[in-house]
Amino acid sequence: MQATAISNDRSEKYSELRGLALLESPKLTKGTAFTLEERHALGLEGLLPPSVETIDKQHQRVLQQLGQKPTDLERYIYLNQLVDTNETLFYNVIMSNPAYFLPILYDPTIAEACLKFSHIYRRPRGMYISIKDRGHVRERLANWPDKNVRVLCATSGGRILGLGDLGANGMGIPIGKLQLYTACAGVPPKGLLPIFVDFGTNNSGLLNDPLYIGLRQTRSPLTEVDGFVDEFVAAVQQEFKDCCIHFEDWRGTDAIHYLARYRDQVCCFNDDIQGTGSITVAGLENAMRITNQKLRDQRVLFFGAGSAGVGNAIMTVAAMKLEGLSDTEARERIWMFDINGLLETSRNDLSPEQLQFAHPHSPSHDLVEVVNSVRPTILIGISTVGKAFSKSVIEAMLKISERPVIFALSNPTENAECTAEEAYMWSDGRAIFAAGVQFPPVQYKGKTFLPGQANNFYIYPAIGFAVYATRARRITDEMFIEAAKSTADAVTDEQRALGLIFPPQSNVLETELRTAVRVATLIFDRNLAGVSRPSDVNAWLRAMVYKPVYNM
Ligand code: NAI
Repeated sequence: MQATAISNDRSEKYSELRGLALLESPKLTKGTAFTLEERHALGLEGLLPPSVETIDKQHQRVLQQLGQKPTDLERYIYLNQLVDTNETLFYNVIMSNPAYFLPILYDPTIAEACLKFSHIYRRPRGMYISIKDRGHVRERLANWPDKNVRVLCATSGGRILGLGDLGANGMGIPIGKLQLYTACAGVPPKGLLPIFVDFGTNNSGLLNDPLYIGLRQTRSPLTEVDGFVDEFVAAVQQEFKDCCIHFEDWRGTDAIHYLARYRDQVCCFNDDIQGTGSITVAGLENAMRITNQKLRDQRVLFFGAGSAGVGNAIMTVAAMKLEGLSDTEARERIWMFDINGLLETSRNDLSPEQLQFAHPHSPSHDLVEVVNSVRPTILIGISTVGKAFSKSVIEAMLKISERPVIFALSNPTENAECTAEEAYMWSDGRAIFAAGVQFPPVQYKGKTFLPGQANNFYIYPAIGFAVYATRARRITDEMFIEAAKSTADAVTDEQRALGLIFPPQSNVLETELRTAVRVATLIFDRNLAGVSRPSDVNAWLRAMVYKPVYNM
């Protein structure tokens, strides 16, 4: 198949829609920006106020209306109504200031939005496929009007952020994730589809909530669900050619299970496992540049061994191997700790994925004791347990390393293992710190510390764009390592000197486009692309970038 540039959504023929139907089409409308000629030609006269406005004027009005909203949740609701009425204007607004809008559309506001999703629900904005559709999944997918779906983000709501099982309320996550594909990497929104895969919820609060929008039953057992998910994955391949499945926020064990089941069969990835691993490796790369050390010489302790923790560990091993270690040598440097204590070889409750990181050691449930004994130079919290890194944990890390690396990756904010202020104060400014949420700068002893946000939104939109453009047949861990290195490279020496280990959000589009180009190049190099290689991958990919302007 020949590589072709993908045009902006708005290049669809206006002639297909006229009058009110055109005005109310969120993908095609220009609202008050329709010119007088367009109004005449398209049956819009009398349907709009007389003033003809530019998109900049409309943008101004959105900002003014947003300014009157009292909370970020209200701003979230407003913006999601805007995308339902005028998609171009929505992206025009959020892409103008990603550092301001990402926290409203995603972390941390998304946590509250998901908790209240059934109550703030307005429109479906994606598909809802339930286990009751078993045997008919393809027919259901066929109801989606656009056949050119290129990436779909599917959640079962099993583990939403650090909030546990939120059932159908979890649909806020794939909707938000895919909006970030466009906002952060310029992926055209037309080929993106959020899906909620419903096999019940074990959240009794939701089951008893009269406004709950999901299937009102407890989760079906995995044995039953497997067949249904197999049917779903196969139906996606049949209905949407070359479509990548982005798995998001499935319960930890399910996430690992389904990634292993499908990764060599279809084009898919699990963001909680691979995306999180990749952004962690990006942070570690830069931490090593600050300390002038090699990752291969570190010992890493993960506090939390769920899907994200194990994904992080696997990706860290891959990065250490690229520095010359064998698989065994790399795994020897990785330790893990979960709700039942240190992962060690006498434990009989570990999955095969966890077992590879269990080493001979006496059992221990005490994190400080484990830090003193394992002597990690890097401590990564990925447990959902807020405040788990106490002053004594940080002080124990200080005894091992001059510049301990401490990441508190759990979100939302109250689940962070420690705050930025705690990490800097308790370590007397020596910790290299990052969190899953954005903490404000910290002043300590006359110095300003800039905590980084280790959020996989630097990674998955760029991977998504590369896969979208190349129609990649498979997604490999190597692509996530390449994305990690590219993200790390986007931080300048000056920024690292201030303690920053992730790129600033203000430049997120350019950062991710560079990453997408590097990943796309790798996809071509590995012969995994479904289109022929263009002579200039950079120019080819940039020609596809979505531009949030009216272009009739
Ligand atoms: P999960 O539920 O699969 O795993 C949680 C892990 O923490 C389990 O191993 C569990 O045993 C352990 N844990 C729970 N309570 C503990 C305790 N008291 N002491 C020690 N360990 C304990 O969840 P998953 O998917 O691994 O996510 C974990 C956290 O990471 C969530 O808060 C999630 O929001 C966050 N996350 C952050 C990302 C980022 O980009 N910053 C990306 C993905 C996840």
